[in-house]
Amino acid sequence: MPSLLQLDSSADLQHSTSRALTEHFADAWRDRGAEYTVVRRDLHRDPLPHLPTNALHWAPRLRLAGEVADPRAEELQQALIAEAMAADTIVIGAPMYQWTVPSTLKAWLDYLHVPGVTAPYDEPTLPLAGKPVVVVCSRGDRYGPGTPGAGLDFVTPVLNQVLGAALGMRVTFVVAELTLAQRIPAMGEFVAEQQAGLARARAELEALANR
Ligand SMILES: Cc1cc2nc3c(=O)[nH]c(=O)nc-3n(C[C@H](O)[C@H](O)[C@H](O)COP(=O)(O)O)c2cc1C
Repeated sequence: MPSLLQLDSSADLQHSTSRALTEHFADAWRDRGAEYTVVRRDLHRDPLPHLPTNALHWAPRLRLAGEVADPRAEELQQALIAEAMAADTIVIGAPMYQWTVPSTLKAWLDYLHVPGVTAPYDEPTLPLAGKPVVVVCSRGDRYGPGTPGAGLDFVTPVLNQVLGAALGMRVTFVVAELTLAQRIPAMGEFVAEQQAGLARARAELEALANR
């Protein structure tokens, strides 16, 4: 049973671009056949608590004396890791907030990245290695080379570093920019570019879901 884990983190429950695009990916995934299932986790509607202690960043055997975690927090972390491991593919909606990821998505990363469990430390542990993860990046402005925003995207570097470099997953980014052109009249000149980017993102996601 090929399973998709669909994660959303946009605080916008009405007009969100990333939510529409992760749903588009999930629809294309389901269209492949009845055995293609989807598990959803909405990190905004059902937010995770901030990591309650640094102890949870380490495998239990790597914790220092006195570093203990609440068993319920430990259970939650194990469930989140098991959920990611059970998925054949993960799609993540990652809107840009303050030039980086929403705190709700950051909290999920804090639970998931555990040296000695999901990342190598004293042993070459890498249980999520090779798992495809599609990150849908939505942002109000534009950040490509030569634009005023170039160099100010702190969404893709952190996700690439944690999911790709640390956890060994195969990360693909699909970007939809200039979404604020729909909201801010002064950005009206960018509506056509935003619409073209959205169509491109939808096509990319369909291709990825069918790969
Ligand atoms: C709290 C907040 C912070 C934002 N910060 C940025 C930002 O730093 N850069 C940017 O280009 N857009 C920013 N925006 C605009 C969003 O990135 C844009 O609306 C995007 O479409 C959000 O994704 P969504 O449509 O999936 O909700 C921000 C929006 C919110 C609500």
